[in-house]
Order: sequence, then structure tokens, then C-alpha cells
Amino acid sequence: MTMADIKYIGVDDLDIDIFEGQYPVKDGMSYNSYVILDEKIAVLDTVDGSFIDEWMDKLKAVLDTRKPNYLIVQHMEPDHSAGIARFMDEYPEAVIVSSMMAFNIMKGYFNTDYADRRIISKEGDTLSLGRHTLSFIAAPMVHWPEVMLTYDTTDKILFSADAFGQFGALSRTGLNIDEARRYYIGIVGKFGLQVEALLKKAAGIEIKAVYPLHGPIITDELPLLLDHYKLWAGYESECDDCIIAYTSVYGHTAQIVRMLASEIESRGRRALAYDLARTDHSIVLAEAFRAGTLILASTTYNTGVFPAMRSFIDTLVEHGYKNRTVGIIENGSWAPTAAKVMKAKFENSQGIRFLENSITLKGGISSENIEALKAMADEICS
Ligand code: FEO
Repeated sequence: MTMADIKYIGVDDLDIDIFEGQYPVKDGMSYNSYVILDEKIAVLDTVDGSFIDEWMDKLKAVLDTRKPNYLIVQHMEPDHSAGIARFMDEYPEAVIVSSMMAFNIMKGYFNTDYADRRIISKEGDTLSLGRHTLSFIAAPMVHWPEVMLTYDTTDKILFSADAFGQFGALSRTGLNIDEARRYYIGIVGKFGLQVEALLKKAAGIEIKAVYPLHGPIITDELPLLLDHYKLWAGYESECDDCIIAYTSVYGHTAQIVRMLASEIESRGRRALAYDLARTDHSIVLAEAFRAGTLILASTTYNTGVFPAMRSFIDTLVEHGYKNRTVGIIENGSWAPTAAKVMKAKFENSQGIRFLENSITLKGGISSENIEALKAMADEICS
């Protein structure tokens, strides 16, 4: 799993239900941490606060009788930084290597920025451990502003912080592109420009393996993952699937969604429908980014749009959704307003092309609605 003198001391969180307060993780989550055993010893990041004892036991087992010289803090989010104070108490000779902004954030969490026990590093700075020479790469907003990746110039390993991570504990899952996508879109989807900047830097160095802070170490699958990252960072779709996200109160909107999906599939395109009241929005969000076409079907509610749809579109827009085709289906028994409200939510989004055909239900499904949905399916598949 790791190079001979690089040891994994991360932990699997199998009890967690919701990661970062919003992402369901049915296969748990890993908080990765590594030790480079060289003439000098560097520990890369700590773990979540619930696992500090387990992490410290693993660290001590790997160190045997030796003591670490450096704690490299690549990212200050608490799922990786919670063990900093414990480490610094345990190893009073050790110093922290991190970006200035990370030390600023550290003060907020630990009431100290370890001013007399630190090395402030920036892009291009190096740290020699003996056989290994580490070089630092700034990666602001992937996923916080202080993030600094570490490149082992000796073994050509990129320690990538949150980048190239995924949901799921290591004991339960290997590389899973669906979970890597849901993780990426949810956590850094908004920061495509910054991820592209990082990908540009990564293209300039030889990388034999990526050691992320979540999910498996990436070796042979790196080209596959990089291809996906290029699409995700550039807000490009992966396929011409049609995703239909809907809300339905009495079943009529759900029924027309099923009919539309069937019409689309009969024309040779894949259509997948998601009930926004019953599917976690992080799943539908990732699906919307994966596909080229998104149909939004919703009930009118309080002269606006149904709450689950309102919240879903807000999430889409907030994550920088762009460069896609969007179709609208609304339902309203006496004064439908959902279509207007849904469309308006995209007014500041770039590259959204609305289908010319839309559908308005006035409660149940009319013969005009059937004609309209066939026209919509024709337009989607044309
Ligand atoms: Fe895994 Fe942004 O913390």
C-alpha cells in the first residue's frame, strides 16, 4: 500500500453517518495520515478528533523508539487537524511545517500558532528529510485557502490533501468514481478554476502515486481519475444522459416524469429520475454534473416552487453548475409559478441553455401534456 519508508497511520470512521454536516456516507470515511521515516521523520496531517488516540497509537507503533521531527499540516479543516495539539504536547522537539495562512487558522482552533515551533512554507519551498526531499505546492481553495500539498521529489509521490479524495472507509471501498465525483462536486465543485490551476501544476511534475487525505492511494488509476478531474474542473459533462430531478405531492408530476423518461429511453438515450424528497441532494447534484441534460420538474408551492426543488437549485447554482441543457416541467392547479421561479434561479449561471419545449400541468396530465412531453423528448434527443 505504501512505499517502504512511508507508512499509513490513518483511520477509518465506520460510525459516521453525515460527513462535514451534510454528506451521507454509507460506507464511512477515512481520515488519512502518513509518516515518512527517513533520517528526519515527517508526519503528514493528523485525523478527526474522535480518532486521536487510535492515530497516536499507530504513530507510536510506526516510530518505535524514534521521535518525529516535523508535523506537516497540509489542511486545517478539523477532519485532518484535530490532533495537532496532542502531537505537539507529545513531541516537544517537533515543529510544524505549514503555510502562513494555516498558522493563522490554527490560532483560531488551538489558541496558538506555535510561533516558536514552526516553519512557514510557501510554494516551491523544500524540506530535506535525508533520502526524501519534499517540495510544497500551494493549492488555495482545494479546499480551504491555506491548503498546501506536498510533493516527494524522491519517490514522485504527491500528497494531495483533500484533492483526489473520495467518500468511504478504506476497509469498505477502493477507488469508486461515483463517490469520488460526489465528494469532488460537493466539496470543491465551486472551485473549478482553482482545481484547474492545481491540475496545471500537477501536469508539470512526474507523479507515480497520489496519497490523498481521504480514500485510497491512487497509482494505476491516476490517469482515469485525472481525466475525470479535468472534466469536473472544467464543468464539462461526462455523457449525454438525461437526469430528471423532481418533486411530486400527489403523484401526477412523478407520473409525467416517468413518461418522459420512457420517451427519452425509447429514443436511445439514458434517462434517470430522482425524487428530491427521497434522494440525498449530494447524489442528484453529482448526477447533474455528470450528465449533459437536466430536467427539473416541480409543483408550485406558496406562489413559488416546492421547497426541495428550491433548495436543490440553490445547491446547483452555489456549486457553479454551468454549460448544460436544462428543461422545465411545472405543475400548478390554478396558478402555476414554478417554471418562472426555477428559471429565474439560473439568471447568473453561465452557459445554461433552456429547452424550447416546456410542460405545464394543471394538476393531472392532459392530452396536450402528452404531446408536449413527446416534443420535449424529441428536442432532448435531437
Ligand atoms: Fe477533508 Fe477539507 O477537509
